[in-house]
Amino acid sequence: MPTNSSGKPPNVLCQSDFSDITLPALNPVPGMISASEQRFLFHMTRDFCADRGAVVEVGTWLGKSTTALAAGLAARNARQKLHCYDRYCWKAFHSEIADLDLRPGDDFQPAFERFLAPYRDRMRVTKTDLSEIVWKGGPIELLVLDAPKKASTLRNTLEIFGPALIPGITKIVFQDYLYFPSYELAACLARLPSLDRTTVVLDGMSVAFDVVAPVANIDSDDGLWRPESWTAHEIHIAWRQILEPLEPSARVLLAAGLPWHLYDAGHVAEAVKLMHDTAWVPSQHEQFARLAKSRIYTDYRPLFQAVGLTSAWDHELRARWRAGRRWLSQLFTSRSRSQRAA
Ligand SMILES: C[S@@+](CC[C@H](N)C(=O)[O-])C[C@H]1O[C@@H](n2cnc3c(N)ncnc32)[C@H](O)[C@@H]1O
Repeated sequence: MPTNSSGKPPNVLCQSDFSDITLPALNPVPGMISASEQRFLFHMTRDFCADRGAVVEVGTWLGKSTTALAAGLAARNARQKLHCYDRYCWKAFHSEIADLDLRPGDDFQPAFERFLAPYRDRMRVTKTDLSEIVWKGGPIELLVLDAPKKASTLRNTLEIFGPALIPGITKIVFQDYLYFPSYELAACLARLPSLDRTTVVLDGMSVAFDVVAPVANIDSDDGLWRPESWTAHEIHIAWRQILEPLEPSARVLLAAGLPWHLYDAGHVAEAVKLMHDTAWVPSQHEQFARLAKSRIYTDYRPLFQAVGLTSAWDHELRARWRAGRRWLSQLFTSRSRSQRAA
């Protein structure tokens, strides 16, 4: 059987927007996931889960994803509990998405619990940082992750929950897998032999994996967890395997992960050339333009500049530099005039 770079046999990938799944009437909750992702999560707890372990979610925010998971459990009258973890600490940008009376630093667990009130008896909620989680709840049937976005936090998450993940049973959903600034998820998972990518949620950012072997000894391949140390060759092999099987609409979302990865691994000229030479589609340009207004811009300035994007900050710097040059030349001219007069 042919294998890919991690030695895994290629699998059949389901790519769907799950429009055949009808959601029941759900409490409207502000959130960061799409309608197709809500349908997928509901489908997972109603139709895939079968009380073979716990359902665990890390990164609930106000509970848009949690509501879908809980509704699926309720629809099946499941016995299994939904364990929710989040640090429930309000950030300034959260107010751009949800108009609640909360300020940066506030505890938003009470707001989360109000939104989830109809399902309260099905849930166990823990306010904690991901790194502090101690899992003692036995086997996990479904693990939904929307907090780890980097190699280090992904590794930490798998160390915490690894022993409870059951090969042949557990599924793991990675929200933001297709969001290219979180490319470290896709890169590391491509090299992890115990997980197999099986579902891509179209019109969303989520991708699900099956656990196919014990998630143990994840430390044995140390390079795996340091994607910034990969050679350009290793990066290209991984990204071919990541991108090629994806439907075009999903590939468009994740494709810039390759130049981002090359850049972080120090292959700067290649990353810049790739950004410059690629025929990005309008939706990708729009995403780059949005990101150029955020803090990400300063970390990846040459990549943004390669697609013709400068930020307000660059304009400000350039204006200050020009003003400084004008001031110096005026100073110089007035000095030489006064020297000549003397
Ligand atoms: C993208 S939001 C989740 C969105 C949510 N799933 C929805 O449906 O709208 C990410 C959440 O992860 C939480 N989070 C991020 N890093 C965390 C960490 N290290 N420990 C605990 N929670 C974390 C944040 O507080 C936030 O609520």
